[in-house]
Amino acid sequence: MRILAIETSCDDTSAAVVLNGRKVLSNLVSSQVDVHQKYGGVVPELASRKHIEMIVPIVREALERASITLKEIDGIAVTQGPGLVGSLLVGLSFAKSIAFATGIPIVGINHLEAHLSAIFLEKRPRFPYIGLVVSGGHTALFRVDGFGNYKRLGQTRDDAAGEAFDKVAKFLGLGYPGGPIIDKLSREGNPKAIRFPRATLGKDSLDFSFSGLKTAVVNYLRAHPEPVGGYPKNFISDIVSSFQEAVVDVLIRKTFQAVRQQGLKSVVLSGGVAANQLLRKRMVEEASDHKIRVYIPSPHFCTDNAAMVGVLGYEYLRRGIRSDFSLNAFSNLPL
Ligand code: KG4
Ligand code: ZN
Repeated sequence: MRILAIETSCDDTSAAVVLNGRKVLSNLVSSQVDVHQKYGGVVPELASRKHIEMIVPIVREALERASITLKEIDGIAVTQGPGLVGSLLVGLSFAKSIAFATGIPIVGINHLEAHLSAIFLEKRPRFPYIGLVVSGGHTALFRVDGFGNYKRLGQTRDDAAGEAFDKVAKFLGLGYPGGPIIDKLSREGNPKAIRFPRATLGKDSLDFSFSGLKTAVVNYLRAHPEPVGGYPKNFISDIVSSFQEAVVDVLIRKTFQAVRQQGLKSVVLSGGVAANQLLRKRMVEEASDHKIRVYIPSPHFCTDNAAMVGVLGYEYLRRGIRSDFSLNAFSNLPL
C-alpha cells in the first residue's frame, strides 16, 4: 500500500510517500524557521500563510521524488491535531480535496500517535513498550500496547521539554529554535557547573514540570549581572549545559520509573527533543545498565515529518478504518 502523508501541525510543511507503513519513498520537510526566527517563536498566523504557499509544491515534490503519480496512491493520511488549528487546516483541507477529487480513501491522524510510531520507519519494536514523547508542545509517557492502544501514564503540568529549551534560549538571546542551539552549545560547557532543580512531583508520579527549572535559569542570570568586559568564557555554555543536564535527568528518571512500574522491557523515544545528543546517549547507557531495549528514531524522524504519519495511515487504512469528509482539525485532540 502506498500512502501519501501530509503533516502541517506547527511550523513545518511536510509530505511523504510511505510504502506499507515502513519504507520511506520520499519525505520532504519545508521548515519555516526563517519566517519565525525574528519573533523568537512560532507566529500562528504567519505559519498558516506559509503552509498555504508551500503545501502544493511540497506534495508535488514528494510524489516526484517517490517516482509516483496520484493514481498510484492507495491512501491519504493527514494530521488532524493536536497543533495550531490554522496550520492543521491547511494540510487537512488540501488532503480532503485530493481525496474528494480522486476517490482515494483518507484517514485523520493524531500527531502524538504519529511521533510514537515514527520508530517503525526504521525498527520493529515489540508491543508493549513505554513511549516517551518529548516535543515543543508535549511531554508525556505512554504505555503502548499496539497501534491505537495507548495508556497515558504521565504528562507535563506546565511547559513541554522542548518549550523549556526554546524559552531558555530565547531568554539568553541565543536564537530560535532553542533545542538544537542549546544541544550544540552545551558541549562547550560543564553540566555540573550549576545545580538546577529537578522537579519529581512526588515519589511515584510520572508527571513532569519544567517551568520551575526555567525560572531557576532566569533567576541565576539575574543574580549574575554581566560584568564590565563581559561574562567570563563558558559562563553561558555552563548555564545551558547545566540546564540540559537537569532536563535530561528528569526525562531519564521518569522513563525508567515507568518501565519499572509497568514491568516492561522496551522504551521508544520520539518528538523533537529526542534528537538531543545527551538524551540519546544517556538513554542508551541507562537502558544497557537496566537490561532494557531502547529504540530511538534518527533525528530527522524525531522532529516533525510526514513519514511518521504514513506509518499510521497504513495501519488504519489496511484495517478499513477511514475518515469521511466531516474530518476536522482539533488543536487539543487527545490521545
Ligand atoms: O516534534 P517537534 O519537531 O515539533 C512539535 O511537535 O513540537 O519538536 C520541536 C521541539 C522544539 O522545541 C525544539 O527546540 C526541540 O524540539 N528540539 C530539540 C532538539 N531538536 C529539536 N531539543 C533539544 N535538543 C535538540 N537537538
Ligand atoms: Zn511534533
